[in-house]
Amino acid sequence: MKAIAVRPPQKDSVHLAELPMPSVDEIPNNRGVLVKVLKVGVDATDREINEGLYGAPPEGCNFLVLGHESFGQVVEVGSAVRKVRPGDYVSCTVRRPGKSIFDRIGRNDITSEETYYERGINLRHGYLTEYFVDDEEYIVRIPKGLKHLGVLAEPASVVAKGIEQATLAQQRLQVWHPGVGFVLGSGQIGLLATMMLRLQGLDVYTFARAPKEGNIKAEIAQAYGATYCGADDRSIEEVVSDVGRPDIIFEATGSSRIAFQAMEYLGLNGALIWSSVTGGDNTLEVPGNRINLEWVLGNKLLVGTVNGNWQHFEQGIADLSLAEHTWPGVTERILTHPINGLDNYKQMMDLLADGQCLKVFVDVADEG
Ligand code: BGC
Ligand code: ZN
Repeated sequence: MKAIAVRPPQKDSVHLAELPMPSVDEIPNNRGVLVKVLKVGVDATDREINEGLYGAPPEGCNFLVLGHESFGQVVEVGSAVRKVRPGDYVSCTVRRPGKSIFDRIGRNDITSEETYYERGINLRHGYLTEYFVDDEEYIVRIPKGLKHLGVLAEPASVVAKGIEQATLAQQRLQVWHPGVGFVLGSGQIGLLATMMLRLQGLDVYTFARAPKEGNIKAEIAQAYGATYCGADDRSIEEVVSDVGRPDIIFEATGSSRIAFQAMEYLGLNGALIWSSVTGGDNTLEVPGNRINLEWVLGNKLLVGTVNGNWQHFEQGIADLSLAEHTWPGVTERILTHPINGLDNYKQMMDLLADGQCLKVFVDVADEG
């Protein structure tokens, strides 16, 4: 079997590797699900792993198979599997448990161990290959009518978790009816956050660098009923003076500078969600006294969030599905840059490195 692999921390090591065909018997207790890979999404995480900034191969292996955003079709299941059957469309979660209490109750997405195991990222092979096998627990079913969006299940899970975590934490307020939401960034995460906050009925403003004209990201945000503000357009300050400070901010720019700036705009009792994974050790200056004072006097909340477990995948899929009924055909516009087959791994990495594409994904195989 072919696979797209890297040798972290070596830089630019992306190559084609060879893997043995997996089998359902590799998974204990007859809980194995064998999946034929159809599509795999890639993102900045894959690019950073290939840049040697991040990631590690499984123990005893000198390469790591990339790909954490999976979509495929079940081929075979072990005799104890109930959740899926051959022919079903599925995605699969990313994290695998360690030994902390959170890992043991199925919440490996909030493990309290420093070492975490993530398929396609850290210490576990990913999905950029022809077939994979995993335990039923990590398999998530994608409805047939949503198969064209199945490859967005993982990114959607990350956003669904971020909003869920903020909502859970806001129960501290006893009542919370957010009315205005800001989304910072218009990559896949920013656009899916725009969509999910719009589904909750918020007045959403999506801020990003690129000008609005001829910009597919702006078109998608607006098709969800949000207001897109490019850097040449309305600034955050202008929007704040028009509509007031937001009740919720979803930060997804990948820039720590903007993550800290977001603290200056959040409304009273508001929630700020940080989701950017920022590598390196960049430092910056912030208006510390003012932010500290406003956050204390305003009872504000900051929540950092990463990764989703299978419940977040299910919430993300439910939201993708409701969005498809609410704004038909809009979400598939996120899927801008298909790569034809695993053999074109160089083109895949070049498009990621270029940084201009909204969404690169690999069409690994046709179904059947
Ligand atoms: C993935 C998450 C993962 C995170 C950190 C992101 O790209 O979507 O599932 O937890 O990287 O490795
Ligand atoms: Zn991703």
